[in-house]
Amino acid sequence: MCHDCVAGGPSGASRRSFTRFLAAGAGLTVLAACTPEAPAAVTPSSSSPAPGVTSASPTAVAVPSVESTTAAAEPPPQAPVPPSAALPRQFSLTDPGSPWLVVNKHRPLAPADYVPADLVQPNVTLAVSGEAALLNSTTAAAADAMFAAAAQDGVVMTLASGYRSYGTQVTTYNGYVAARGQADADTASARPGYSEHQTGWSFDIGDSGGACAFQPCFADQPAAVWAKANGHRFGFVVRYPWMFHPITGYYYEPWHLRYIGVEAATDMATRGISTVEEYFGVDAAPGYP
Ligand code: DAL
Ligand code: ZN
Repeated sequence: MCHDCVAGGPSGASRRSFTRFLAAGAGLTVLAACTPEAPAAVTPSSSSPAPGVTSASPTAVAVPSVESTTAAAEPPPQAPVPPSAALPRQFSLTDPGSPWLVVNKHRPLAPADYVPADLVQPNVTLAVSGEAALLNSTTAAAADAMFAAAAQDGVVMTLASGYRSYGTQVTTYNGYVAARGQADADTASARPGYSEHQTGWSFDIGDSGGACAFQPCFADQPAAVWAKANGHRFGFVVRYPWMFHPITGYYYEPWHLRYIGVEAATDMATRGISTVEEYFGVDAAPGYP
């Protein structure tokens, strides 16, 4: 059982729904489609709703088989809270070059084949090479600072998957579909043109051992625990938190971090807001329209 299941993670309601989920014999597995190399399991994440900002205008894959999930058995999505003026709207929610971009199953990238103009390799411990070792320049600088701070605290953190081109996402997603079927794949892997990895604003972390890489037990590893507690100081949020799949569209990915800037990430943490959908006041996106 992951860290959040037993300590301070999900709200009571979320815990109850998760319990029902287990009791129903769903064989909860957490799908992890964040890397081409290591898809893994399923585990759904929570907290109190809070204000958003302003309205939204808004690699070849070896895919192991996993038990299928039953998102359909979940309660209806929790509606994102209406936007309010928590922070003044500073950046676009639709421009892929904006740190406040919200991309999800209802909000594809435009253009679909977007490529960041400023991809660079961060100065961190790499577990990948090639395009996967790249981030946009703002995210790379923030990652440099975060990884260094983690190291100072004795926490080993690696970059396990960064930028992914549209073409790579085609291969990744198709691999999941081939292995699990489309419904299951959609709980873990974004369709091409819908992945944050294509923006350079997101990356997946790993640790030195790698035993729990892209699996639910990664939530209990020092790198994930540290990132969850400290990521906001460097502008990062855990983008797909425990039990928020009715809003984000994806099961818990404790390894997937998203840069939104220090001010917004810290505000989210302070307010106890778990998803960017809620924070920025955009619709929940449990599935594709
Ligand atoms: N695993 C995340 C949702 C992605 O494929 O971008
Ligand atoms: Zn990811």
